[in-house]
Formats: sequence, C-alpha cells, structure tokens
Amino acid sequence: MRFLAPVVLCAVVLASCGGGSSEKQTEKKEEAASETPVDNSMVSPGAAEAAASKGAALIEQKDCKTCHKVDTKLVGPGYKEVAQKYEATEANIEMLADKVISGGSGHWGEVAMTPHADLSKDDAKEMVKYILSLK
Ligand code: HEC
Repeated sequence: MRFLAPVVLCAVVLASCGGGSSEKQTEKKEEAASETPVDNSMVSPGAAEAAASKGAALIEQKDCKTCHKVDTKLVGPGYKEVAQKYEATEANIEMLADKVISGGSGHWGEVAMTPHADLSKDDAKEMVKYILSLK
C-alpha cells in the first residue's frame, strides 16, 4: 500500500489543480483596416508597371525563354535589342504581337521564331509591351 501513495497523491494534486483554471481567452477582433487610403498619386507609372509585369508573367509561362533572354541573343534576339529596335508605339506593339502569334523570320537572321497560335492577341500585346519596356 505504501507503494501506491505517491500515485494517489499525484492524482489528487492533478484533480485539484487541473480543474480550477478556466481562463477565458479574450478574443480581440482585429479592427478591419478599412481606413487605408488609396494612393492615387502613382496611378500612371503604377499602371504601366502592372501592365509590364503582366507581360513578364505571361512570358514566364510560355516557351519564350527557351529562345530569348533579356540581355543577350540566344536563338532569338535579346529583349533589350528588340526594345532598342522598335519604339513602343501602338503600331509596333500590334505588329510584334502578330509576329509572336504567327511566327516570323528575316529581321534578325535566318532563324525563324515558331508561331504561338494559342496566344490571344491581348496576351501577345502584353508580352510585347513588357519587352519594349526593357530599354
Ligand atoms: C523557337 C525559338 C523561339 C521561341 C520559342 C520564341 N522566339 Fe521570339 N524570336 C525567335 C527568333 C529566331 C526571332 C527573330 C526572327 C526574325 O529574324 O525575324 C524572334 C523574334 C522575336 C521578336 C521580334 C520580332 C521582330 O520582327 O523583330 C519578338 C518581339 C519575340 N521574338 C517575342 C517572343 C515571345 C513573346 C515569345 C514567347 C511567346 C517568343 N518570342 C518565343 C525565336 C523564338
């Protein structure tokens, strides 16, 4: 019996201490950060940046990088070279977007760019806008 005493004691202690503490957790609700003001001062550059990064993201998703790099010629010209050759006018963006979709050759050498028929015109334009922003 003496052997069991510590065990019983433990049980008693646990029962008396464990049950008593019912702490209420005070839940603080995070104040909704609705008062954050919209900063309109950067709308134009911000929008241009957003458009450029959309094009960059599209280029990431496609096979473009197997043939193009930003700085150096790979199979196709580097994007910066392309940007230097063409001004970012609406007409050039249209023309280059069509090129990306239907493929092309003869402007940079003998190697042709494969067509990307699955691209929408809008996506192709976003990509070209990004490329031409890389001066
Ligand atoms: C199979 C390799 C290859 C792939 C993949 C490729 N390109 Fe090209 N790209 C080329 C070559 C080669 C040229 C140069 C064509 C020429 O001489 O007219 C070129 C040219 C271009 C040009 C300039 C066109 C001109 O007329 O000056 C743009 C813009 C371009 N590519 C964008 C892209 C984009 C965006 C993608 C992805 C959707 C892509 N390329 C995928 C090989 C490729």
